[in-house]
Amino acid sequence: MSAICIRGPRRLNGMIRIQGSKNAVLPVMAASLLHSGFVELGNVPDIQDVRCMMEILEHLGCVCRLEGHTLTMDTRMARGGAIPEKRARLMRSSIMLMGPMLGRFGRAETVSPGGCSIGRRPIDLHIHALCRLGADIHVEGERIAATAKRLDGTVIRLSYPSVGATENAIMAAVAAEGVTVIEGAAREPEIGTLCLFLREMGATVAGMGTSCLKVHGRQPLHDVAFAIPGDRIVAGTYLGAVIAAGGSAFLAGVPARHLAEPVKLACSMGADCTAHEDGLLVRMERRPGAVGFVTGPYPEFPTDLQSVMMAVDAVADGNARIREMVFEDRFSTAKELQKMGAHIIIDGDMAFVEGVRRLHGARVEARDLRGGAALVTAALAAEGETEISGCQYIERGYEDICRDLGGVGADVSRRVTASPVTPVG
Ligand code: EPZ
Repeated sequence: MSAICIRGPRRLNGMIRIQGSKNAVLPVMAASLLHSGFVELGNVPDIQDVRCMMEILEHLGCVCRLEGHTLTMDTRMARGGAIPEKRARLMRSSIMLMGPMLGRFGRAETVSPGGCSIGRRPIDLHIHALCRLGADIHVEGERIAATAKRLDGTVIRLSYPSVGATENAIMAAVAAEGVTVIEGAAREPEIGTLCLFLREMGATVAGMGTSCLKVHGRQPLHDVAFAIPGDRIVAGTYLGAVIAAGGSAFLAGVPARHLAEPVKLACSMGADCTAHEDGLLVRMERRPGAVGFVTGPYPEFPTDLQSVMMAVDAVADGNARIREMVFEDRFSTAKELQKMGAHIIIDGDMAFVEGVRRLHGARVEARDLRGGAALVTAALAAEGETEISGCQYIERGYEDICRDLGGVGADVSRRVTASPVTPVG
């Protein structure tokens, strides 16, 4: 097992090249199944979830190769089948393969998806959308089996703007006869990236950026080369790190317009943020002021940055109320922050944070991807050494958080720790 060790407090200074977006590349990789041919993706992050998606696609007959940050996929030999259970349980995005598999092969078999334990994460909206297009879906325990003789365009109304369900619906609609209208669609930038990719591949998708999308199905698709945009959540993580630790950094390769709410929060905490053509410059010369916020579907404040900004509020001047409106169990990091001296009280969907001048280093454990990133953020501002175990969660979404933060002056390293002794017998 390995742990991330950080000695603080250390101010940060320099430039961080932001990796390609995890939550954009995963649905685009799934959508590649819709076309029998070649797809080349640039700026692909080399992270666990991408490797896992590649293994699933290879199991389905695709040939995938990741060289540096360029992913090439040959989907000509792809055939239907069941998504390998072990892989499906590793990440939530496995469920997004259902739409393209139904569209290409007329069937899809998987198990309830895994992913970060941040709430119940049902898939009822995915099933509703695919059934509306004509799929027959049977759920028996954890097993999900779907078939569709054909998919027909229709109107799909989503009762909640689910990112994954919107992506599944768009991909299945690309293979459906006729026109599909998706009302109540999610508006996250990753949906826009998926729509752009599908249009580059020959599909007809209108309404990008709105909550009403229109897809004209069964357009002829062709080979495509496409670049994945920078990861707004990784950039938002490092924005939080600079605010907590102090200093300045240029976050290169991310569209600043995708970070409107996090930047607004950062400025109200006292940071100086300047949007540039190819990134965001952030400066923090003093201790942040505590500011509360409420998470919600885009363009509201992103739930994926809730834990990181809670860590910032934990060392800020004053008190803050944070409300988590997207996932019902996304405050688990508070317990670990309390081990570092944070004053946080959780009550249902509310967190009450009383900022302290200094946290202290401690042994803490990451229990989910973004919670792990929040512990890194807190450790940068804490007095002494913090050892963060559970790195495998962080590696699911951050290509190399030690490299990124070490490059701007953080005292961060990776340490091999004794793996827990497994009792014999
Ligand atoms: C995507 O998850 C992201 N993951 C998540 O990022 C992100 O937190 C989330 O969108 C919200 O922005 C990927 O893109 C791979 P949802 P997804 O469906 O699609 C409920 C990270 O850290 N819901 O928009 O699973 C659900 O329970 C990850 O990178 C239903 O009720 O999110 C939740 O309360 C974590 N029924 C809410 O909607 C459904 O069928 C939002 O979920 C689907 C969702």
